[in-house]
Amino acid sequence: MEVCGKLNLSLNITGRSGGYHTLDSVVASVSCGDTVIVRERKDNGITLNFEANFTPEVNSVTRAVEELHKTFGDFGADITVIKRLPLAGGMGGSSADAAGVIAALGYIYGFDGALIRKACLAVGSDVPYMLEGGYARMRGRGEAIEPIACDKEYGVVLVRAEGTETARVYAEYDRVGGDTPVDNDEMVKRLTCVRKFDKIPLGNMLARAAIGLNPRIALNLAACERAGLNANMTGSGSTVYAFTSDPEGDAERLKKMGLDAYAAHTCASGLKIYRV
Ligand code: C5P
Repeated sequence: MEVCGKLNLSLNITGRSGGYHTLDSVVASVSCGDTVIVRERKDNGITLNFEANFTPEVNSVTRAVEELHKTFGDFGADITVIKRLPLAGGMGGSSADAAGVIAALGYIYGFDGALIRKACLAVGSDVPYMLEGGYARMRGRGEAIEPIACDKEYGVVLVRAEGTETARVYAEYDRVGGDTPVDNDEMVKRLTCVRKFDKIPLGNMLARAAIGLNPRIALNLAACERAGLNANMTGSGSTVYAFTSDPEGDAERLKKMGLDAYAAHTCASGLKIYRV
């Protein structure tokens, strides 16, 4: 199974609820993602093999399996996750892995869809969205998802930086406040009606807080601006991205400026299942 990462085209913070911040955010799947391989077992054993250059102690996949055990009882599986999405990059990497594992186990064992979605939210705020991916407007903690009818793929250039920890960025937001919110009704209208995305104002109310913790984000945004690109930060950072009609050319230009840039495109769907 291939699970795409996501880009927040907007991230408005609307309030607080139960220890979390409530959001109103327009998101899109992006063509870089992780691979999740799940094999059925005859016994109730679980094995997890992480192919990544870091080993999280309690990762989202372990939590996903625990939630499914709580809801559906015992089952066994051999799970391999091949990581490509950056750690703490704001692209929903750990949520993508959890959603991939939950979707694959649901498919193999025929788990009930409504109960699966409940389990997803218990694992992480972005996990319910990651089950489907594509263009969507997410509200609340991430549990209210409205798909946006847009089947276009837009070229993007992404710039990586050292990761920012989500909980710390939200805590910093509480201290320093946020940036201007985006008009999401207008953004949804434009996504469904226009053929060119470059005129749509992007934004992220967590940017100021994330920059306070990781100034590299501001340098990357400024470098994109110097290259004539209108860049935005995704999630709680640290990746920044810009829409462009020439992703490869712009990635090369940004690399020459010393940035860790690469080309990608948005996707209308975030999950691909391959039965082998
Ligand atoms: O959802 P996730 O487990 O990745 O969030 C990590 C932490 O970030 C939460 O425990 C919370 O402190 C903060 N957070 C928040 N509001 C959100 C998402 C995360 O305050 N919508």
